Amino acid sequence: MSAPPDLPDVVARAFDVSRKAGYVSFCRNETGRLLAALAATREGTMAEFGTGCGVGTAWLRSGVRGPDTKIVTAELNAKLADAAAEIFVDDEQVEVLSADWSTLLDKGPFSLLFLDSGEPSEVGVDSVADLVEPGGIVVLDDFTPCEVWPPIAYGRVDTLREQWLTDERFTSVEVMVAPDASALIATKR
Ligand SMILES: C[S@@+](CC[C@H](N)C(=O)[O-])C[C@H]1O[C@@H](n2cnc3c(N)ncnc32)[C@H](O)[C@@H]1O
Repeated sequence: MSAPPDLPDVVARAFDVSRKAGYVSFCRNETGRLLAALAATREGTMAEFGTGCGVGTAWLRSGVRGPDTKIVTAELNAKLADAAAEIFVDDEQVEVLSADWSTLLDKGPFSLLFLDSGEPSEVGVDSVADLVEPGGIVVLDDFTPCEVWPPIAYGRVDTLREQWLTDERFTSVEVMVAPDASALIATKR
């Protein structure tokens, strides 16, 4: 797959790396644009759990405004981490770690945290609440929009989504990024 021409350069480079690696588990462009828009509101350090081949990281990077804003991203699969690191080899604002996301537990607090190590991410609120600075944003994607409460997915209550939407440490919303896809945005109180 070649990248559409209207993508930010860094995202197009990430797609090229993904294609060479035969990797397709990247965030969709609608989510990417959401990440970029949110990243443009951020300073400090943003983090991503689950780099894949760096497409989500690239979207975040495309939104960064200032030279002091950093992104740190962790990928368990060393081959994928190496591939993603290629994209940012000349970029001092992005650090790709070949590591479990738990490596990032002592690198916070983060101004934005993109939880993308599962489908959807299995990382619960308790594991990361203290990693996010006040006013910081957590993003989770890969949800199927749901109009009922509690949210149902695959015939069961989606307890992860329910937890993120009700935890008192966060003010949260589920936003549809496409007719068949939604993301959660949770802001730390
Ligand atoms: C959905 S993909 C990531 C896509 C990427 N964030 C993007 O937007 O293009 C999930 C990735 O998380 C990685 N992963 C799974 N468990 C992990 C863990 N415990 N720590 C770090 N990465 C993990 C997987 O190897 C996989 O590459």
